[in-house]
Amino acid sequence: MNRKDQHVALANEQYQVQAMSDFDQVRFVHQSLPQIDLADVSLKTRFAGLDLDYPFYINGMTGGSEKTAIINQQLAEVAKATGIAMATGSVSAALKHPETAASYQIVREVNPDGLVFANLGAEHSVENGKKAVALLKADAIQIHVNAPQEMIMPEGSREFSTWLDSIKAMVEGVGVPVIVKEVGFGMSRDTISQLSSIGVKTIDISGRGGTNFATIENARRPEQELDLLANWGQSTAISLIEAYNFSMTHDILASGGIRNPLDMAKALALGAKACGLSGQILELVQKQGVEETIKIVNSWKDQLQTIMTLLGCRKVSDLKQTDLVLTGSVKDWCDVRDLN
Ligand code: FNR
Repeated sequence: MNRKDQHVALANEQYQVQAMSDFDQVRFVHQSLPQIDLADVSLKTRFAGLDLDYPFYINGMTGGSEKTAIINQQLAEVAKATGIAMATGSVSAALKHPETAASYQIVREVNPDGLVFANLGAEHSVENGKKAVALLKADAIQIHVNAPQEMIMPEGSREFSTWLDSIKAMVEGVGVPVIVKEVGFGMSRDTISQLSSIGVKTIDISGRGGTNFATIENARRPEQELDLLANWGQSTAISLIEAYNFSMTHDILASGGIRNPLDMAKALALGAKACGLSGQILELVQKQGVEETIKIVNSWKDQLQTIMTLLGCRKVSDLKQTDLVLTGSVKDWCDVRDLN
């Protein structure tokens, strides 16, 4: 089976809404007098120089085969109907095998006026970045950093020493905003500081808690001996706390196991400008179909507005002013890392 098809199949097989998440250890404080009306609440947000109507989007997943072309088409139909942004999966397959380009371009064909992000690995040249952007007429490009996935992937890269330089060149030369993203292993303040130092302004900390590429790639190894890395990385909540001081000057994005609008509200309160969803949306379009997924995504907008009303937040950035109580292992992490 094609690797892209395997990723989708394994992501689906392993996907389940997590009963426990580090987001459960982050609590809002209820206030009885919200002092605003539901009609006052706006979900608009802005990152990477782009204006978005809603603070969540479909994060980078797929393309590169016949099956994934259909998935990209379905995801794009959801994005178009709900007005949310969408990233494709890594376009590197289309650069190597131009005959697969259509499986990505379908996203732009279905949704000519929507916000679309291209996606490439950190090793790519500016020239490849420009090709990826041109292919999709993309509004921005996601550059993924996925060292654990590469290491666990039998055919993955073992060379990471040039990544920082190639990302710097991409930021300087590709001509559209660059979003550097993890793939579910989370980030630390040190990583974010390194990215900041080379001029990266928009960072998706994509943390542990949802789709787990250590487990997915391990399942593709004949001996499956790297199961010991199943819990590698920082959760999304912890990564956001690590990133918090940068959220004043950088656009921080949250993804990795975002289950529902309450998790979204918590991520936004922890400094994110928007939330990316992958595994769950993939599961929804495949199991429930496009129409039902559109209904669910639209209901998330209403639910997020409800939560913001209860918190007295007229706009997304107001969520950062709310009081949060951190408990359990999230609090322990903050104490040890001196992140209070
Ligand atoms: C991904 N993800 C991903 N990320 C990326 O930057 N480039 C890619 O090509 C892919 N491919 C991919 C395939 C599939 C099937 C899934 C489910 C995910 C990672 C994704 O963008 C995200 O960072 C993680 O999946 C964590 O978010 P969720 O799935 O927990 O919401």
